Amino acid sequence: MPILLALETSCDESAVAIVTRQNDTTTVLSSLIISQVAEHSQWGGVVPEIASRRHLEAIPVLIAQAFAQAKCNFHHLSGIAATVTPGLSGSLLVGSITARTLARLHRLPFIGIHHIEGHLSSIQLGDSLPCYPFLVLLVSGGHTELIRVNCTGSYVKLGRSHDDAVGEAFDKVARLLKLPYPGGPSIQRIARSGDGSRFILPKGRISLANGGFHPYDFSFSGLKTSILRVIQELQRKNFTVPKADIAASFEQTVAELLVERTCKCAIDQKLSSIVLVGGVAANRRLRALMEKSATNKGLKTYLAPLEYCTDNAAMIGVAGLDKLEKFPKGSPTHISVVARLD
Ligand code: KG4
Ligand code: ZN
Repeated sequence: MPILLALETSCDESAVAIVTRQNDTTTVLSSLIISQVAEHSQWGGVVPEIASRRHLEAIPVLIAQAFAQAKCNFHHLSGIAATVTPGLSGSLLVGSITARTLARLHRLPFIGIHHIEGHLSSIQLGDSLPCYPFLVLLVSGGHTELIRVNCTGSYVKLGRSHDDAVGEAFDKVARLLKLPYPGGPSIQRIARSGDGSRFILPKGRISLANGGFHPYDFSFSGLKTSILRVIQELQRKNFTVPKADIAASFEQTVAELLVERTCKCAIDQKLSSIVLVGGVAANRRLRALMEKSATNKGLKTYLAPLEYCTDNAAMIGVAGLDKLEKFPKGSPTHISVVARLD
């Protein structure tokens, strides 16, 4: 029965998990996170220098706590996994150097994980698993992608954002509305009391040379600009800005465009299952609309469990278990961190 220690330090969450798998059932023995959100929120976004310093302080503490919670130690481990790309270089280095050093000290395989593969793996922590092939909508602070998954490790990118990632759009619109960082949860909170049909906003599309539109690609910059215009126009007329209505209209527009394009892509590609993962997959309006619309079209939906949508180390552990099965010796030890990788 393999047991993995997993570290995630790609951005502003320091996370450690211990996971195990028996007969295809993955169990999270411990999953701990120290969030740096409060510290970064005063700057309106993540400050890379602060992020790596906080990871350095948090990771050793979290490893000790995770072992205590999982009631195990280094002797029980089959390997150590860490995110190596993409993310903030300094932050990635803290997690990956810690993992590589510990792996070498304890003569364990080190497993380098692509953060996005981690998000894709988070679906394995849900109640039921989709059958291959399936379509993934990955929505996070750095990515908005439609990916066809043929089997573990075989991915085809079918759609993407040409400008902001959808999580980034949530964060920027929250800033326009003077709501705290991170924007996603702030917008969701205030949108609950708003009217999502009050403002008609554009569902940005990417033009093709033949005059049509790319069916599965996204653009969020126009949506963000139209919200800025709405706010400026209201302020010019000395009206109060109806934050809840704007937040709800933005959330509704984003949910609709994501769901419409994802369902179309699944139907066109003859894929009967849709998987929703990533930080924005925690959005309740998006989750509800995806389930309802996909079900109406005869498609099955698999939503990442709420606690494993935003960055966590359990998903890195699951991806690590998959990789260790294929490559029992782990990753090459000279593997380096890479800030950006497609
Ligand atoms: O996956 P994640 O934790 O980190 C990245 O890999 O980027 O995603 C973070 C993003 C942030 O932009 C945050 O605003 C957004 O996910 N987010 C949400 C919600 N919770 C987090 N967006 C919409 N609704 C939410 N409830
Ligand atoms: Zn992430």
